[in-house]
Amino acid sequence: MASDRYIDFANSDIGRRLVGAVGLPAPARLERWQAGRLRPVEGALLLGGGPLAEQVSGFAPRMTDLLFSFGAEVSGAHPWTSEGSKIKAVVFDASTLLQTAQLSQLRTFFQPVLRSLEHSAHIVILARAPDTLSDPLAASTQQALEGFSRSLAKEMRNGGTVQLLQVEEGAEDQLEGALRFFLSPKSAFISGQVIRLSACVAKVQDWSRPLAGRKALVTGAARGIGAAIAETLARDGAEIVLLDVPQARSDLEALAARLGGQALVLDICAPDAAAQLIEHIPGGLDIVVHNAGITRDKTLANMTADFWDSVLNVNLNAPQVLTQALIDSGVLHDNGSVILMASISGLAGNRGQTNYTTSKAGLIGLARAMAPSLKERGISINAVAPGFIETSMTAHMPFALREAGRRMSSLGQGGLPQDVAEAVAWLSQAGTGSVSGQVLRVCGQSVIGA
Ligand SMILES: NC(=O)c1ccc[n+]([C@@H]2O[C@H](COP(=O)([O-])OP(=O)(O)OC[C@H]3O[C@@H](n4cnc5c(N)ncnc54)[C@H](O)[C@@H]3O)[C@@H](O)[C@H]2O)c1
Repeated sequence: MASDRYIDFANSDIGRRLVGAVGLPAPARLERWQAGRLRPVEGALLLGGGPLAEQVSGFAPRMTDLLFSFGAEVSGAHPWTSEGSKIKAVVFDASTLLQTAQLSQLRTFFQPVLRSLEHSAHIVILARAPDTLSDPLAASTQQALEGFSRSLAKEMRNGGTVQLLQVEEGAEDQLEGALRFFLSPKSAFISGQVIRLSACVAKVQDWSRPLAGRKALVTGAARGIGAAIAETLARDGAEIVLLDVPQARSDLEALAARLGGQALVLDICAPDAAAQLIEHIPGGLDIVVHNAGITRDKTLANMTADFWDSVLNVNLNAPQVLTQALIDSGVLHDNGSVILMASISGLAGNRGQTNYTTSKAGLIGLARAMAPSLKERGISINAVAPGFIETSMTAHMPFALREAGRRMSSLGQGGLPQDVAEAVAWLSQAGTGSVSGQVLRVCGQSVIGA
């Protein structure tokens, strides 16, 4: 994996002074989830705004020891003033803002709060999805929150993040899972995102092992992001099948042994790949993570048929064929989760990567297209779009491109494989069926394709 020497320098004593004096970006060292940690929020959680804040207060004591409210009375919360405690996490319910004049409540609430945030603080703004509101002015006002939250994300300092969660009627009981993710260091490298929660019957039973009782298949699991995904799903209690090509057999088997999982050596493009999967996973699956992916970069003028075909086959055709086969054969259980590993370049396009970005955009299309028909079985299908992640793939990029990839985001640095893995683990939980057909960017609010 590449190491980011600049971030070490910018956080050293001399570096901090020098970087400040010349006005260079000073990326913060992000706080990440450590194994064994129990509480999503270690510090004060501040609630404010409309009635959903009251709903959050019902489960907030499971997330933190210190609960405050500002501007509204919330059960079990102490009133917060700007001279009071530093704040680690914030939930503001903006779902009742339905006219332009009411938007000033955002300024009134956030201005004092912003001066009192701790390092790596996480903010979630709750809203209604504009297309569910019949009054155009109300829909416009709720849409306005998207601009606000994305800009606030860009103004955050010290590794802070901001997300907008659009909560549909009936999805209020899914807030705990989403907030456990977005208010904790599990979402360290995600900022400026808009995610929609719909109603969903399934629920997580045990928050200390949210994937207990679920069986997962991870493709491309021998190294990089796939290995981190396997490790994180196992940490959260899932039983794992790790899949990779024959060349990766020894790494794959070593990791499978360490995680107590099953190694499956298979090329996902083999003509009998679907049949082999069905044969080797007799008990069926609850989680499928299509992570395996390759790059073969050339501008289109110089692109060989082999480069084009191999990327489209591994990255797009195999996930399409295997997902359909796992659904048709019943191997994928009801309330299952399918996660497709896309890329922000699939949203934005990238010079020299017409084959790769075509394949990644196709995966986003697959998630959107399959979600409605899978809903009745409680199966969710989503795409995760990583930005610049520190892996051997990005370590081999030319220096200038690598530096640009790292710094051109609100968090000013690359993410770690763990950041992508945490997002996959959240989308793999039973209750996260309320999120489907969506793209979750794990990119530090990269300017690319924003
Ligand atoms: N690293 C990044 O910055 C980044 C950014 C955006 C998206 N992604 C995506 O994340 C995924 C993982 O990326 P990574 O950086 O860990 O890559 P990597 O090259 O380190 O790992 C990919 C794994 O997939 C396996 N694989 C490739 N072809 C296969 C096949 N036909 N059948 C089975 N396994 C196969 C490889 O053997 C390898 O173990 C890829 O889909 C990639 O496109 C990565």
